[in-house]
Amino acid sequence: MTAVFEILQKDAAGRIGRLHTPHGVVETPTVMPVINPNINTIPSSEMHQFGAQILITNSYIISRKEVLRKVALEKGLHHLLDFDGPIMTDSGSFQLSVYGDVEVTNEQIIEFQKNIGSDIAVPLDIPTPPDVSYKRAEEELETTLERVIAAREIVTDDMLLAGPVQGSTHLDLRVHSAKSLSKYAFDVYPIGAVVPLMESYRYAELVDIVISSKKGLDPVKPVHLFGAGHPMMFALAVSMGCDLFDSAAYALYAKAGRYITVAGTTHLKDLQYLPCNCPVCSAHTASEIKSASNSKELLARHNLYVTFAEIRNIKQAIREGNLLELVEQRCRSHPSMLSALKRLYKYTPWLERLDPFSKSTFFYTGPESSKRPEVVRFKERIGRFNLNGKILIRSKSVKGEATYDHVLNFKPPFGAYPVELSEVYPFNAEIPGEMDPGAIGVALQNVIELINKNRNGVFYLNLPEQYTVHSLYENLKKIAIPLDEMPNENL
Ligand code: GUN
Ligand code: ZN
Repeated sequence: MTAVFEILQKDAAGRIGRLHTPHGVVETPTVMPVINPNINTIPSSEMHQFGAQILITNSYIISRKEVLRKVALEKGLHHLLDFDGPIMTDSGSFQLSVYGDVEVTNEQIIEFQKNIGSDIAVPLDIPTPPDVSYKRAEEELETTLERVIAAREIVTDDMLLAGPVQGSTHLDLRVHSAKSLSKYAFDVYPIGAVVPLMESYRYAELVDIVISSKKGLDPVKPVHLFGAGHPMMFALAVSMGCDLFDSAAYALYAKAGRYITVAGTTHLKDLQYLPCNCPVCSAHTASEIKSASNSKELLARHNLYVTFAEIRNIKQAIREGNLLELVEQRCRSHPSMLSALKRLYKYTPWLERLDPFSKSTFFYTGPESSKRPEVVRFKERIGRFNLNGKILIRSKSVKGEATYDHVLNFKPPFGAYPVELSEVYPFNAEIPGEMDPGAIGVALQNVIELINKNRNGVFYLNLPEQYTVHSLYENLKKIAIPLDEMPNENL
């Protein structure tokens, strides 16, 4: 079987896709709940109820334990977990990163994954942690590439094969890793060894790593963000083109008494009220959950519900074309997430090439919105305007507009565009009445550039005080003529 990933809909670098596996089709983006074959917090057979379409488990743990190995080899992985949908298996690389060694070779663990009937196998990559020397990251990456390519030669049947991207925090190694893997047609590309970054809230660096990896990968291939299970960062990761996540977080957090929300994590002991309407939180009060004998299980269930609710939220945002607005909202829940948003928009030229040209409405949610792809795209196109004669730039209609050769509307964060386009995306943007100086500055600078590129025209300005008090307006006044005309509310 040739693995197929179909892309149905796009927004920013995010997409809704369909991944075909031997046990059925998975709609992405989605989360794979991590099933620990030794500890059954919630039975795998119930995972469908939460919205799970695919699970992930660890083939190394299964291979190391006689009872599990026997059942998996004789009756198959799907029988062992009692789940009839697709199951991805990890290789023991994570144990390698924790214990420094594993008692299995790459070839053995790939064969084992094949023999137990895994849908997506992972080779024994080396998850090089952040901040190691360039030399170490480079050497370990070469070993990873050798193993992953060797696995590609072993896996020829139905099973899908993942090619993990490594390279630590060295971005050129991430690009190199991604480009090298892309020559071998893997079915899924996980971005590896990012767990330590997420644990220490280094989300801005996570953005660097994901985008560097994506730059080296074929954009039509599915990408898995290894070890990312907190719904707070799903929208951000999806906007960069991640399609699959795996969550051990729902169970690990529950074990520690932690209640997940899309804005972060709370301790159950600190909650007097439950800010959620999942079946668990609707049926119980906070104190009931605290004192329940199955408190951890109830928490794990709530954690799974919110995790999948956020996935649906993200998919709906992609359908509506407002994924970046969701990202901007989510990134306001923690200062480290805000840093990540600002870092994301350093890559706007990259996002712009993938972002659809037309969506519904551009919602301005804060200063970062003036760095969005639509704004950068508009700036790049200023050179296309060819204006002569008398040109009016205003933000509300004024008397005598018919006497001008061109009338342009002024709206931050864009600048000036033909009034005829006012209802067209993105100029139909919803912006606040009180605009921040950054966005006004971007728009005024774009107008200055427009006038400088059309020096045959004579430009007139009629802008409200909110915009004329900006320092850049002084520069604009040198090349355009302010009108005293008051806006005509009746027009
Ligand atoms: N789980 C979390 N990170 C990684 C990684 O980099 N590689 C593998 N194989 N599993 C992981
Ligand atoms: Zn809940």
